[in-house]
Amino acid sequence: MATITIDEKQYTVEEGRNLIDAAADLGIDIPHFCYHPGLAPDGNCRMCLTEMEIRPGQFGIVTSCTIRIKDGMNFRFNSPAVLDNRKGIMEFLLINHPLDCPWCDQAGECKLQDHSFDHGRGHSRFVETKRVPPKKDLGPHITLYTTRCILCQRCTRFCDEITGTSELGVVQMGSKSEIATFEGMPLDNKMSANVADICPVGALVTKDFLYKPRIWHYDKVDTVCPGCATGCNTTMEVLHQKIYRTRPRHNEEVNGYWMCDEGRFCYHDWQDADRLKSPLKREDGELRQATWPDAIEAAVSGIRSVLEGEGESTIGVVGSSMATNEENYLLRKLGAEAFGSSRTGLNRKPDGEAWTSKSGFHIDADKTPNTRGAGDMLGADSLDDILRGIGDGEIRGLYVLGGDIGQTLSPEVAEAFRKLEFLVVHDVRRSDLAELADVVFPGAIPFEKNGTMTNAQGRVQRLNPVFPPAGGAREDGAVLRYVGQRMGVDMGGTDPAGILEEIAGRVEGYAGLTFDLIGDQGAMKGGEEPSEAAGG
Ligand code: SF4
Ligand code: FES
Repeated sequence: MATITIDEKQYTVEEGRNLIDAAADLGIDIPHFCYHPGLAPDGNCRMCLTEMEIRPGQFGIVTSCTIRIKDGMNFRFNSPAVLDNRKGIMEFLLINHPLDCPWCDQAGECKLQDHSFDHGRGHSRFVETKRVPPKKDLGPHITLYTTRCILCQRCTRFCDEITGTSELGVVQMGSKSEIATFEGMPLDNKMSANVADICPVGALVTKDFLYKPRIWHYDKVDTVCPGCATGCNTTMEVLHQKIYRTRPRHNEEVNGYWMCDEGRFCYHDWQDADRLKSPLKREDGELRQATWPDAIEAAVSGIRSVLEGEGESTIGVVGSSMATNEENYLLRKLGAEAFGSSRTGLNRKPDGEAWTSKSGFHIDADKTPNTRGAGDMLGADSLDDILRGIGDGEIRGLYVLGGDIGQTLSPEVAEAFRKLEFLVVHDVRRSDLAELADVVFPGAIPFEKNGTMTNAQGRVQRLNPVFPPAGGAREDGAVLRYVGQRMGVDMGGTDPAGILEEIAGRVEGYAGLTFDLIGDQGAMKGGEEPSEAAGG
């Protein structure tokens, strides 16, 4: 630790910490534009100017973003020279900036707007004609409103330092300088939309979030991305049961400050899916709509008739890497205690493409968020045992958690499932899997679920519901509990926190884990060290 002086008051802060971050830790805001804690300091915008004691009694103007804390440092954050410099920088940055706050998408979260209120002049002395360079389509997700750019170069540094793709640069000179893509090189890297998050003004915007309701209208929910096994921490912005935007939430152990474009925009696929609106049960060979009590009774009597049928027969359970740890745990419990079966499986879809950025940010090949946790809860990581059991005639019924809109059944699995006497499925739409079922329960999508998931590193993280299950859907855990209770089994904890308590006492590696301990940054299972920080 180091003792420093700010405006004649002494503080203890972390030695080596960036001055802007150290001041923020103390609740002191040093205005800045080009500095971002996920990027190397650049010192180009000059907004963070402050006075530092250079020799005893002699102060000089320095850029805060390039200062690392050392013991004994002495700063003046609010001297007349500092305040005057700030005012000058603000006036300079606003010379060519349009006064389009009323319709700029950044309004309400714009650093230029904020600092203009706090440090600006209130009126412009610039009487010459402003430059009005045209807006530019930079790539599939990003548009540049060139007039609003303050040339802080966060965006160019992101593409150089984080993705290593270097699509963006500054062209022209002096007052004609502009951000541009290099000829024939669109901004289309796998993390391109992060540049809109870090642009401090409304210059870089995602096409997806143009002309949407103002940012202060949204509810914000912290959760985890369901797009792959990395489990990036996110904040969802939602209004009237509709997601409008996903942004990465800082977690140094998982995703740093970033997320990939695929994960960021994946909510559209879920939100636009043609969801099941009520349970279905098979009658005269057809799947027909049913009420919840009817469907539960149909499931329970179908299961009983398999269990009471002739010969040795059992019902297997198949979990889902789209479902939470708590749901997969309840499923296994249902199998063991209500069906008397230990036959479990996990229906995994084939891996996609993995990718690691220059900075180490990792997109996992597994395009589901909870393969590791589902495997831990079920004691299975494939369908092998289930397919063997169906093949040798021992497994004659199955209870399956589906719920992955991107998954189709392989011909081999579909053929095996067709041999079953009775199949119960939870799914979010009429999938290949649902079409084979005798009873289908409409389940929740990941943004409607409450519980935990375990990412590929073994970090157990909280999934928070952005809104309640749509239409006639129910949380899968609640349905599993109804079915268990109807079969005379005490299914234990009535909410995900209570179920996690039970998991902590029974599943290896989860001892001691609670919602409180997991918090908003997750906790490693079994006290494991993260294999590598993926954040970059
Ligand atoms: Fe900075 Fe935004 Fe301009 Fe890029 S587009 S230089 S991030 S103001
Ligand atoms: Fe320090 Fe830009 S934030 S110069």
